[in-house]
Amino acid sequence: MDAKRIAAERAADYIQDGMVVGLGTGSTAYWAIQRIGQRVQEGLRIRAIATSNASEKQAKELGIPLISFADVQEIDLTIDGADEVDPNFQLIKGGGGALLREKIVASSSSKFIVIVDDSKLVGRLGRFPLPIEIVRFGYEATIHKLRELGCEPVLREVEGKAYITDNGNYIVDAYFGAIADPKELESKLNMIPGVVENGLFVDMADRVIAGKRDGGILELE
Ligand code: A5P
Repeated sequence: MDAKRIAAERAADYIQDGMVVGLGTGSTAYWAIQRIGQRVQEGLRIRAIATSNASEKQAKELGIPLISFADVQEIDLTIDGADEVDPNFQLIKGGGGALLREKIVASSSSKFIVIVDDSKLVGRLGRFPLPIEIVRFGYEATIHKLRELGCEPVLREVEGKAYITDNGNYIVDAYFGAIADPKELESKLNMIPGVVENGLFVDMADRVIAGKRDGGILELE
């Protein structure tokens, strides 16, 4: 079985009756949502909040009951993927462009389980370009200020056009190289006017489940 799917299905076992569940986004979270959908069809009673339009659509198709932050302020458990995970469980997320909603949901969750294949486990964050969501107005000025922080920022494009997030913003993929202090960089980035949020998830993950290519599984807490 695919290493991402192995991790995702194990994480879905942590969901219990009555929970409010945060549904992540991406090719790993996809498998978690599929398994949650199966469990709901077998009788599991949960309510869920999705982190993207794509995950919301998938959940609806599977019959997973969806709610919003108008209904609850606290989520019991969120399961989501990541692009990089360091030994202190600091993360880079946003490869799929959903980092803003993912961070809102993760930060409102009592427990946050990260699911990855083991290629995402790194000694230090930064080989993966850091996704940063920025507003469209004045984006050239925002990108200039990002460059002054010492990275190489690239506006994300799809088929020759700027990629637009579910929130109507742009994404910049910023090549920093090894990130020495993720917490400091996270707040420096968010101080720049025009930056909505960045993909550094610091001190948020409680458990990391990594599927291995040989079919094994690593659970870290
Ligand atoms: C979505 O915006 C991301 O944060 C994903 O969770 C992350 O990019 C991991 O994606 P995959 O599970 O597709 O590798």
